[in-house]
Amino acid sequence: MGSSLSCCGSDKIEEAAQTAFGAVNNNSWRIFTYKELHAATNGFSEDNKLGEGGFGSVYWGKTSDGHEIAVKKLKAMNSKAEMEFAVEVEVLGRVRHKNLLGLRGYCAGNEERLIVYDYMANLSLLSHLHGQFANEVQLDWKRRMKIAIGSAEGVLYLHHDVTPHIIHRDIKASNVLLNSDFEPLVADFGFAKLIPEGVSHMTTRVKGTLGYLAPEYAMWGKVSESCDVYSFGILLLELVTGRKPIEKLPGGIKRTITEWAEPFISKSRFGDLVDPKLRGNFDENQVKQAIHVAALCVQSEPDKRPNMKQVVNLLKGYEPNHNTVFNTRLHTVKYTDTLMPLDHHGDDDLDDDATNSSAGYGVFSAIQVQKMNLPP
Ligand SMILES: Nc1ncnc2c1ncn2[C@@H]1O[C@H](COP(=O)(O)OP(=O)(O)OP(=O)(O)O)[C@@H](O)[C@H]1O
Ligand SMILES: [Mg+2]
Repeated sequence: MGSSLSCCGSDKIEEAAQTAFGAVNNNSWRIFTYKELHAATNGFSEDNKLGEGGFGSVYWGKTSDGHEIAVKKLKAMNSKAEMEFAVEVEVLGRVRHKNLLGLRGYCAGNEERLIVYDYMANLSLLSHLHGQFANEVQLDWKRRMKIAIGSAEGVLYLHHDVTPHIIHRDIKASNVLLNSDFEPLVADFGFAKLIPEGVSHMTTRVKGTLGYLAPEYAMWGKVSESCDVYSFGILLLELVTGRKPIEKLPGGIKRTITEWAEPFISKSRFGDLVDPKLRGNFDENQVKQAIHVAALCVQSEPDKRPNMKQVVNLLKGYEPNHNTVFNTRLHTVKYTDTLMPLDHHGDDDLDDDATNSSAGYGVFSAIQVQKMNLPP
């Protein structure tokens, strides 16, 4: 590869990025050459591989000036992938928030597309809840609350503070990255949908990850901010309970986290919901409040869900009357009946740890176009 500009074969992407980032010389991002990223990642060696998702593989690297980076390398070049790359770059350029993983740079050569981020020393929330760090239990209750509030604030920024508003559409544990202080940074905006001013919802192809999908979105492709609220509710349940959004029971039956939690919540057995790995070390009122917020978020009617501002306030304990609401009930979406048949990806995704690929799911592939049934 030659100069940074010659690295970029696509005028369209270059243009999108420059529009998105405003001043081209903005110090916060730059165009990388393929050669530079190749050197930084030791030739994209297996040893440097951090993980793999729908878009491709992610590699740890170090630039010549000593900066630690994570390089996401697109696995296959086609027009769909190229489009998603452009969306990711465009959207990333619009956001600046302490709880959102911004762009460090990109490389768009003739044959490759790469996105460069800051390396997050504690990897993803998934790796701590269900992956390679799960047994170390570094996530005590305080950290879990910090992660819940921080990621809610990141999503709140996307929904309310950027114009046009952004719906993330793939909020999940592997897309919440943790820096060295366990501050959460929500990542992966390749699925994001920009919502024009004055539009309340849009109908779109379904992308995202089963288990986190709001029912109206999974079934009818109806996307609005409240789809992210639903996914956040599932994430919150996951954080509190340490359970996966969908788990496989003996006999191959799949059970959602809401199905599991429902009986405990209806009997107000909040303590029994908490991740046993915490060995009883948690703040009971905060647990109740977090479960209450999660229950509000995962209601099947999108209009009944709170917005992210309310979610943040409730989690912080600011929202008035928050102590009077513990007649919490959890509404379970019957994924088993209606949505499981959409899961074409086998069981691997449900059982694997964070090091494994979520091949068919995820940022840039996800569940492919669903049949768009009309609402009854
Ligand atoms: N900036 C980063 N710093 C550290 N690790 C990262 C970074 N970005 C990604 N990773 C790691 O790489 C893994 C793969 O990320 P990727 O976004 O490609 O896939 P995913 O989130 O697991 O699945 P999906 O494709 O569904 O989003 C993540 O789980 C995370 O552990
Ligand atoms: Mg991801």
